[in-house]
Amino acid sequence: MYTDNLATKGIILAGGKGSRLYPITLSTSKQLLNIFDKPMIYYPLTTLMMAGIRNILIIVKENNIEAFKELLGNGNHLGINITYKVQPKPEGIAQAFLIGEEFINRDPVALILGDNFYYGKDLFNQLNQLGKEKEGGTVFAYRVSDPERYGVPEFDCNGKVLKIVEKPSKPKSNYAITGLYFYDSEVVDIVKTLKPSKRGELEVTDLNQIYLKKHKLNVLLMSRGMTWFDTGNFESLFNASSFVKAIQERQGLRIGSPEEVAWRKGWIDDNDIKKIGKSFANSYGDYLQSLI
Ligand code: DAU
Repeated sequence: MYTDNLATKGIILAGGKGSRLYPITLSTSKQLLNIFDKPMIYYPLTTLMMAGIRNILIIVKENNIEAFKELLGNGNHLGINITYKVQPKPEGIAQAFLIGEEFINRDPVALILGDNFYYGKDLFNQLNQLGKEKEGGTVFAYRVSDPERYGVPEFDCNGKVLKIVEKPSKPKSNYAITGLYFYDSEVVDIVKTLKPSKRGELEVTDLNQIYLKKHKLNVLLMSRGMTWFDTGNFESLFNASSFVKAIQERQGLRIGSPEEVAWRKGWIDDNDIKKIGKSFANSYGDYLQSLI
């Protein structure tokens, strides 16, 4: 399984105002809301873990940090290491690399947005196929019906990406660049050269554009067999919840369980997962215990 090809460190960006979900997010963080039966952050956390990443920095709003710590602690129970940093103001996705500079310590790093939901094996197969390339960046493009909401790649007739435009009014393709990014050790230095956009943010699309210009950006197409949601509004949050409910009920397996992934990876053992399962004393706990 893909482990240390591109990154062994990962950042989950879980700040932002969450204003599209007001009034729910007036008093809590969006990434603590539920997608069906689990907190939203479990899903991107599980995605990083499935990619073999065990060293994780979670970036949050100041007033929510204690709630995240209560939920995930230092990650010991999952056989991983979790640390936290505050983003004082939502000044852009790329700011995550400045806030995380010490954590990154000039290593390759992955970033996942705390409201992004991925389901399907293809993503991990693609990561495996990337080999040991440690140079450049890797992002994923997914076909959507509403590209104007996202960073949109423009392709030439050979399928090569010419540029990426953030929320274009006239999108040049039906693809969105999703919220999972892998970069080499240059990323912090490059982000330091970025200027805030018109909306006052350090844009991840500008960062990708720099890698692209240097011919160092891999844009991988995620197949239609994969499922990706950006759960930032009520409709997509509801759709993601319905999706999780439908698949879980059909298969009897849970999606986005960090305890299960930790156990399957061998990062925690039978006794550990049994203990966690017992402490929940509900159907989720029963499920964890039933895995053994
Ligand atoms: O979901 C993929 C899309 O994410 C990409 O296609 C776009 O290129 C990228 O800009 C981003 O677009 P969004 O409109 O979804 O970005 P948003 O401002 O909603 O932020 C995404 C998440 O990151 C959200 O959960 C809040 C968090 N965030 C955002 C900013 C700007 C922070 O924690 N801090 C921030 O400063």
